[in-house]
Amino acid sequence: MPPARVRVRPLHQSAICVRSRLPTFGCWDNAHVAVLPVGDPVPPEGTLPAAALEGVGKAPFGVYVHVPFCATRCGYCDFNTYTPGELGSASSPSTWLDAVRRELTLAAHVLGEPVSADTVFVGGGTPSLLGAAGLAAVLDAIRGSLGLAPGAEVTTEANPESTSPEFFAGIAAAGYTRVSLGMQSVAPHVLAVLDRVHTPGRPVAAAAQARAAGIGQVSLDLMYGTPGETHDDLAASLDAVLAAGVDHVSAYALVVEAGTALARRVARGELPGPDDDVLAERYEQIDTALSAAGLGWYEVSNWATSAESRCRHNLGYWAGGNWWGAGPGAHSHVGGVRWWNVKHPARYAAALQAGCSPAAGREVLSPAEQHTERVMLGLRLADGLPLDVLDTSGHAAADRAVTNGLATVTPGDRLVLTRCGRLLADIVVRDLLVS
Ligand SMILES: C[S@@+](CC[C@H](N)C(=O)[O-])C[C@H]1O[C@@H](n2cnc3c(N)ncnc32)[C@H](O)[C@@H]1O
Ligand code: SF4
Repeated sequence: MPPARVRVRPLHQSAICVRSRLPTFGCWDNAHVAVLPVGDPVPPEGTLPAAALEGVGKAPFGVYVHVPFCATRCGYCDFNTYTPGELGSASSPSTWLDAVRRELTLAAHVLGEPVSADTVFVGGGTPSLLGAAGLAAVLDAIRGSLGLAPGAEVTTEANPESTSPEFFAGIAAAGYTRVSLGMQSVAPHVLAVLDRVHTPGRPVAAAAQARAAGIGQVSLDLMYGTPGETHDDLAASLDAVLAAGVDHVSAYALVVEAGTALARRVARGELPGPDDDVLAERYEQIDTALSAAGLGWYEVSNWATSAESRCRHNLGYWAGGNWWGAGPGAHSHVGGVRWWNVKHPARYAAALQAGCSPAAGREVLSPAEQHTERVMLGLRLADGLPLDVLDTSGHAAADRAVTNGLATVTPGDRLVLTRCGRLLADIVVRDLLVS
């Protein structure tokens, strides 16, 4: 068994930008809308630097839309999402949609040249709470502002509990091509620890309904390492995922996030925290079962039946691509400039209604930071990291990783993590960067 240091976090759009800065806001009037986003450092002309815009239109462009609503809060989740009780009358799906429309209009002005979306990802939160009509309106807003490229991949996340055959038929008709369903586990006692409400069998039934409605790509999310989850519990979840016949699976090690109900229970000693050795064993169990069933890993936490079934939108994040993130707390990246929106839906909508930027801050990545990200994200991919991006000490670290059985080098000179290396990805990355 490999040494266990697994910390495989879910890729969540809001986790991409890790540093925060003091909020700064910019406003525009209707005649001069191309002044967003502002932040630190603010370019003199108040818009994106020309250098950042250079690559736009030359590489795939992504649009992320953040839906900050959930019916209930799962005990482990610290995403930027709110239950009706938490929001009260401060915000609603209609004020949110109005604000998202304004932000997308703004995006079209800031980006200048017409930029159509090659990929769209509506995430949350629980986008399925908007219903098919709400999700259709989101896609219409993108079509009417930036535009949608022919053959675009259009994903929505969904909680199986807020889906139905009519919902899937509606989003398929609207143009959604991919759905990602949160399942986590089939074991009732695991779901109970996670404070996760599921009608038994609902995630698998939802996946079948999505496919029957003509959604070409269907993914299920699993979580592993929940206190009390056994090898057999996970085996049962994997059996259910495979019986569902999905073409994509994401599997995330449970992370006890500060400030969550789960973290409080762990702190009080009511529950043990996830154990590194157990997490490593579970990861191997998942990789073995999925690979045997024809789902190959293409990113540390993601498996797909073929290259076509990989999530193109998320591949854009991992490859350092350009995307606009609309919605409360959403993050964007264009040509080395990153910015992020205010998190609360009411503040977000108020800023846009007042003609102000919803951006809370921004940063321009230095070449060294861009290199760090390239190594960190590239190495998580099964396609691997081109060796020629590494300096002399990086090459020595790559040799060490190969010698220690943590990586291999492909005939095309790319460094690819072995399964053991995937469990120790953070350590390999540190060695590649620090040495
Ligand atoms: C936005 S949710 C998916 C859609 C929907 N909200 C739902 O939960 O069904 C994205 C995924 O992140 C994962 N996730 C959230 N918090 C996590 C945590 N603390 N540790 C590991 N995975 C987590 C879950 O697997 C979840 O399905
Ligand atoms: S439904 Fe999804 S986004 Fe909402 S609280 Fe649960 S895991 Fe988080």
